[in-house]
Amino acid sequence: MIAFGGDYYPEQWPRDTWLEDVRLMAEAGVTMVTVGVFSWGLLEPAPDTFEFGWLDEVLDLLAQHEIAVDLATGTASPPAWLTYQHPEILPVDRDGRRLWAGSRQAWCPSSPVYRERAALLVRQLATRYAGHPALAMWHAGNEYGCHNAHCYCDTSAADFRRWLRATYDSIDAVNEAWSTRFWSQHLTDFEQALPPRLTPTFNNPSQVLDFKRFSSDALLSCFIAERDLLHALAPGVPVTTNFLVMLGFDKLDYWKWAREVDIVSNDHYIDAADPDAHIELAKSADLTRGLAGNKPWILMEHSTGAVNWQPRNRAKRPGEMLRNSVQHVARGADGVLFFQWRASRGGAEKFHSAMLPHGGTNSRIWRSTIELGRHVARLASVAGSTPRSQVAIMFDFESSWLLANEALPSTDVKHSRIVQDVYAGLWHGGVTVDFVPPGADLTGYALAILPCQHALSPAEVAPLQEYVESGGVALVTYFSGIVDRSDQVVLGGYPALLRSLLGLVVEEFDPLLEGAGVELDDGSTADTWSERILTEGADVVRRFSSGPLAGEPAITRNRVGSGEAWYVGTHLAGEGWRHLAAAMCTASGLHWAPVEGVERVTRYQGRDAFTFVINHHDSPRPIGAAGHDLLTGAAVDMDDVIAAGAVAVVHSAFARAQGDD
Ligand code: GAL
Repeated sequence: MIAFGGDYYPEQWPRDTWLEDVRLMAEAGVTMVTVGVFSWGLLEPAPDTFEFGWLDEVLDLLAQHEIAVDLATGTASPPAWLTYQHPEILPVDRDGRRLWAGSRQAWCPSSPVYRERAALLVRQLATRYAGHPALAMWHAGNEYGCHNAHCYCDTSAADFRRWLRATYDSIDAVNEAWSTRFWSQHLTDFEQALPPRLTPTFNNPSQVLDFKRFSSDALLSCFIAERDLLHALAPGVPVTTNFLVMLGFDKLDYWKWAREVDIVSNDHYIDAADPDAHIELAKSADLTRGLAGNKPWILMEHSTGAVNWQPRNRAKRPGEMLRNSVQHVARGADGVLFFQWRASRGGAEKFHSAMLPHGGTNSRIWRSTIELGRHVARLASVAGSTPRSQVAIMFDFESSWLLANEALPSTDVKHSRIVQDVYAGLWHGGVTVDFVPPGADLTGYALAILPCQHALSPAEVAPLQEYVESGGVALVTYFSGIVDRSDQVVLGGYPALLRSLLGLVVEEFDPLLEGAGVELDDGSTADTWSERILTEGADVVRRFSSGPLAGEPAITRNRVGSGEAWYVGTHLAGEGWRHLAAAMCTASGLHWAPVEGVERVTRYQGRDAFTFVINHHDSPRPIGAAGHDLLTGAAVDMDDVIAAGAVAVVHSAFARAQGDD
């Protein structure tokens, strides 16, 4: 079964609304709701005084209607009495300003008081609801770090120092890692180490890196504390928390987090201003599947229509919500949930869309909710299957952090931007992509891409070297492999660790000024970045043909063992990444099938193949799949057309299970 539902906040509504809610949930085919995300203040209105009556009623009602509950631990937003009694739990920003209560997530991840009070609530909830028939899953916190990822208070500073002591053998090792001979930053005792607070000019970038690692770990330990309690008190019930793999959010190292959750879940919202939002969505879904180890995951939140937090929150167009949902399922989601079930009357999110809008059931959004519920029910047999890919993109949260630092060659070089551009190139060729962490074993892939993989260690380069030597094709982009895992330049000619693999050395970076472009010798253009490349065995595929580097290499290819290592020393513009991706796919023997607006992704399981077809185009297109459409029950031929903006899920069965001898 594919779960269908959303965040449910019955506490915002009078009791008689609850009855209408469950009736309408049944009508819409809702099978799962997340309850209690922000209900700490109501569940524990005074210290150690718990009021579970309303939640008992809600869970009983949901159980009677066979709606499963993803029960939140409520710890995302501490109650007013707690921050009133203990203002020291409020987070402090980089400028030293303590943030106030009155919004949400106003807590310091290192605060012992917060952690103790959170544990107490979790203990109560777990004990009370462990055996409840509605309970299907625990939802610890909510979007950890969305607003409070980095706290600079004294408690965090002390915790950071504890983390440093646990990470480094001695203060000298910290000095070494942080290059503290520079600008007289030498430390003689761990006690002198600080979070990277507001300083007269640039912070120490290695200190910033460690602080981001620490901050991700501090929140992770909050999650682990809740998870361990839940496992102990309610054995067998999976624990999740919703990640934020979307729009370049990079505050947590989700590769580390993904190892700790029982099931990966993600929240995704599209950028209303982005005409290619569906490609960003596809990337986010593929990255989430990568985090899930290629196992199914849950789309915990997305929106039926407009959100409330972008500058201009446009409504979704007819069919857009269905296409968004089907895209996520195509790329491995076994659950389609929304924020939220019923639109709030008050509060900061009253203009956020919901499954049931303010206007009620006589509305376009409600009708599309019902339609989606029916479709999701028809996709039950898809659950558990997963896409397959022969292309791996390396994704690294730490490189993303490093490229957000100050004092770099160009402020325009952003990990998420280049990942998105490279991904979009492949998307246009109908190529499904797996995301892998740095240092991953690349065996079995035909093409591996390292987009702005700024930091690399020798151990992370070794599997790449082996992969290419034994026949793999790799593409490395500019500004990769420049620093080590302490953010120190790896000496020996950029990019030293990749120099022999790529057959070149980069002598000097020459980023482009804002709005400037440069031409390549095939007539294409590039922006953002150029650099002086000296080949050392690599063939030149393209040269710069304008600007100070005219005549110098821009794209190269090096044959190594039985494979090839390509390098691109600029940021391709227009359809440049698409053309390069096509060339790379040809070099690695992969099928390149231009999508022309129609996205096709196949999930496999045993003998079954489910091809998801999503027509993003405004005219009918060939469906390009044969079998039975699970959504309509109709037989489908390759040459049939799929209507403008429509979706289909075409099931076909192989004679033998894939992978059988
Ligand atoms: C998410 C959050 C939800 C809601 C939603 C609005 O980040 O988890 O509680 O605020 O955004 O889009």
